[in-house]
Amino acid sequence: MTTAPMPAFPAGFRWGVATSAYQIEGGASADGRGPSIWDTFARTPGRIADGSSGDVACDHYHRHREDVTLLADLGVSAYRFSVAWPRVRPGGTGAANPAGLDFYERLVDDLLAAGIDPVATLYHWDLPQPLEDAGGWLNRDTAERFAEYADLVAARLGDRVKLWITFNEPFIHMSLGYGTGEHAPGHALLMDALPVAHHQLLGHGLAVAALRARGAGPVAITNHYSPVVPAGDTAADRAAQRAYHALHNRLFTDPLFGRGYPPGFESPVLRDGDLDVIAAPLDLLGVNYYNPTGIRAAPPDAPLPFEIVDLTGYPRTACDWPVVPDGLRTVLTWLHAEYGDALPPVQVTESGCAYDDEPDADGRVHDPERIAYLDGHLRAVRAALDAGVDITGYFVWSLLDNWEWAEGFDKRFGLVHVDYDTQARTPKSSYAWFRDLIAADRP
Ligand code: FCB
Repeated sequence: MTTAPMPAFPAGFRWGVATSAYQIEGGASADGRGPSIWDTFARTPGRIADGSSGDVACDHYHRHREDVTLLADLGVSAYRFSVAWPRVRPGGTGAANPAGLDFYERLVDDLLAAGIDPVATLYHWDLPQPLEDAGGWLNRDTAERFAEYADLVAARLGDRVKLWITFNEPFIHMSLGYGTGEHAPGHALLMDALPVAHHQLLGHGLAVAALRARGAGPVAITNHYSPVVPAGDTAADRAAQRAYHALHNRLFTDPLFGRGYPPGFESPVLRDGDLDVIAAPLDLLGVNYYNPTGIRAAPPDAPLPFEIVDLTGYPRTACDWPVVPDGLRTVLTWLHAEYGDALPPVQVTESGCAYDDEPDADGRVHDPERIAYLDGHLRAVRAALDAGVDITGYFVWSLLDNWEWAEGFDKRFGLVHVDYDTQARTPKSSYAWFRDLIAADRP
């Protein structure tokens, strides 16, 4: 880590942290919440590394006041959380659950009282199970149901949420949830998962219209981006690199900016008018970045035209992900160069890392690797700003250690350590570092 002082960020830059509902809330049966695909998946033997579920998670549902205090002490100007669709409309269709909306209203009002902008993600992967039973995102109707749910949330909170994010990482949801089966709902359809891309994007476009009809805004979507590095300098590896780049980085971005689907990924379920709905102007693009992806050509009879390979020569996090801060600059400058004037301002809506952080004998949690990770990634954001990209915020993933999907409780991403036996929260040294950085930037 360089010892040079962190350069300044533009005036009004939004400093935040991010979480998601299923990963922190618990309260699985509180207030009439219905089951989601993650409840079902976590109960299926062998799906979650440590056999755990998000039934209790960080018990944020009952402890949100304490967590808002942690946010206020951190000094963030924004908090990105997600709304659990099964809490707000338990069956996915039919009656809303006012008690579920009450919870988010309490959270939003507490954030506002603490001077923190509420940033709400409407879909962070927790589809109501009854909708999955009807086909999930393979079914076009799910897009319509999503827009109805967006309307319900906007009717209650449209006057107070400061930024709406329709979807979190639709690429990861499609590829791991429907392509490989590593995430809920656990389908391993490989390229037959492609309709999931179109139905999420359609749901996004319909939700943008629903939000705006309620006067709610600004509106964004958050995508996962990864620079794609060919394993070797062969024509076959370069072709595989291009194919994977189109799938990972362009499939969910080209249509947003009016270009339709990238060649080779035309949607089998596209209908007239859909692309116009999807290309509704956005106020902002959310960028999540963790690491680059190494790709090589697959053997001729393989089911996919590419294979993912390890990128060697970098330090690695506890998830075994390579630490490559400059990859964040790469994706930000690529978006700017590729989409030009069509690209709205960008906020980095997730950036962070897992390490095996445990309290020392004095009960303190030291996480110098996380501080170095965040320092490097913020310098990469600064470099992208200097290259002319309009970046207006940065959110650390995550406020708290939490339930990391198929990895269960084993991977700790928080600025705050959570003891899952007692639910005690202990700010790590990275929390103090980020607090000081924000304070220096917002004197
Ligand atoms: C992202 C997800 C988030 C968390 C981080 C580590 O892909 O959006 O929920 O799992 O990875």
